[in-house]
Amino acid sequence: TAEERDATLPHATKKSMEDHLDKYTKLFTLTAQRMRMIVDAFEETLDKGLQEWGQCVPMFPTWVFGSPTGSEKGDYLALDMGGTNLRVCLVSLLGGCKFEITQTKYRLTEEQKQEDGEKLFDFCAECIKEFIKVHLPDVTAENPIVLGFTFSYPCLQERIDHGILIRWTKGFGAPNVEGHDVGELFRKSLERHQVPVVLAALINDTTGALIASQYVRPTTKIAVILGTGCNAAYTEEIKCIGKLKDKGLNGDDVVAINCEWGAFDSDLHQHLPRTKYDLHIDEHSNKPGEQAFEKMISGRYLGEIFRLVVMELIDEGAMFLGQNTYKLETAYSLDTAFLSLMESDPTDELLTIIGIFSHFYGLETTLAERQFFRALARLIGRRAARLSACGIAAIVRKKGYLEKGCDVGADGTLYNKYPGFPQRIHQALVDVLGEQGKNIKTHHAEDGSGVGSAIIAAMTKARKDAGKY
Ligand code: GLC
Repeated sequence: TAEERDATLPHATKKSMEDHLDKYTKLFTLTAQRMRMIVDAFEETLDKGLQEWGQCVPMFPTWVFGSPTGSEKGDYLALDMGGTNLRVCLVSLLGGCKFEITQTKYRLTEEQKQEDGEKLFDFCAECIKEFIKVHLPDVTAENPIVLGFTFSYPCLQERIDHGILIRWTKGFGAPNVEGHDVGELFRKSLERHQVPVVLAALINDTTGALIASQYVRPTTKIAVILGTGCNAAYTEEIKCIGKLKDKGLNGDDVVAINCEWGAFDSDLHQHLPRTKYDLHIDEHSNKPGEQAFEKMISGRYLGEIFRLVVMELIDEGAMFLGQNTYKLETAYSLDTAFLSLMESDPTDELLTIIGIFSHFYGLETTLAERQFFRALARLIGRRAARLSACGIAAIVRKKGYLEKGCDVGADGTLYNKYPGFPQRIHQALVDVLGEQGKNIKTHHAEDGSGVGSAIIAAMTKARKDAGKY
């Protein structure tokens, strides 16, 4: 039995694991009161970003005006450069809120994320060229296809097909892109490779998710991405955006705002209860001091937080005594997907966890350790969900959606795949907003980076054809 096995191993006893767990529970638990304080600060930060340029949470106007009608039609290409994959999609908008999608996915290597920007965009251009060759024989230089480029990093946009990359996030570091117009860089790569496409719009994945969600559920006002990175977009009235005052826009129109909320509290570090593991991740990242909120929440970092806690226990001699732990010592060697698996292990003996540690790290575990690991995954996952809820609650309160309620489109691997993540968000919304928090409902968003991108390309074309900004 597991107990017999445990008894023969010189590992942590049940009691000491419980003591350790108490300590980490205190560190990683966010009380409702603490969350309310975070929401207050968050709301203020969002407003500051709307009124003045150059704020920590930049609240970028996206130049995506209004909402889709559902009757947008035509074939569009979307290029999706998220955090992990590169995707080329052909989206056929059929009207009546219907669409079809054909896509090809490419994995981006760690090297590609760090090599020169020109090379990165050239690679994108080549992928599109190949895709057109296979799927769109009728598309030629004389008959080009319109493309929406979902580039999910903070960009300051002066128009919809333009965007200066403010900083890379999610571990990217390609030189010669920060501070440059990504639209222009990409257009040059398309020209160099003679790819017959017209770049209509540069969009963020959150904006794509917002528009794609509105396409099928017009009551959607907010969209969040909880994946490799974390961020939100929402619909704002132009008259509420102080920094757009002199731009000659109609105050009654609405525009999508890309919050870039992953940067929350990166300037003052006053509001988020960061642990020493969060600080370690920040200090050892390629962008120390940035994306403080995102580093506590998103899929890129949760596995690493877990790994750092385990390493601490190994250093204290509390587990894996006499075993070789070198594989666990590599930074980022423990993927967030493992946390999902640990949390959803249905067996009493926690066989999945046995498998993960023996297969990937060559380590034997006791039942007490495995129970601890599952509990630790829960703490880290729950904290991420509760912090995400703080951001949603801040937008909800700012926009006064609490009484009437609102729909939130949500996408990303954490939201879609991490067990219980949506439920934890809903619970946290009630904790922080009271019973009315139940009026805020999240829904799995349509594919914003593909379909959303295409809809925005179509909306942009329609606006241009109508002679509007
Ligand atoms: C990062 C990016 C942001 C994106 C988010 C989700 O926070 O900076 O633009 O929306 O990840 O992919």
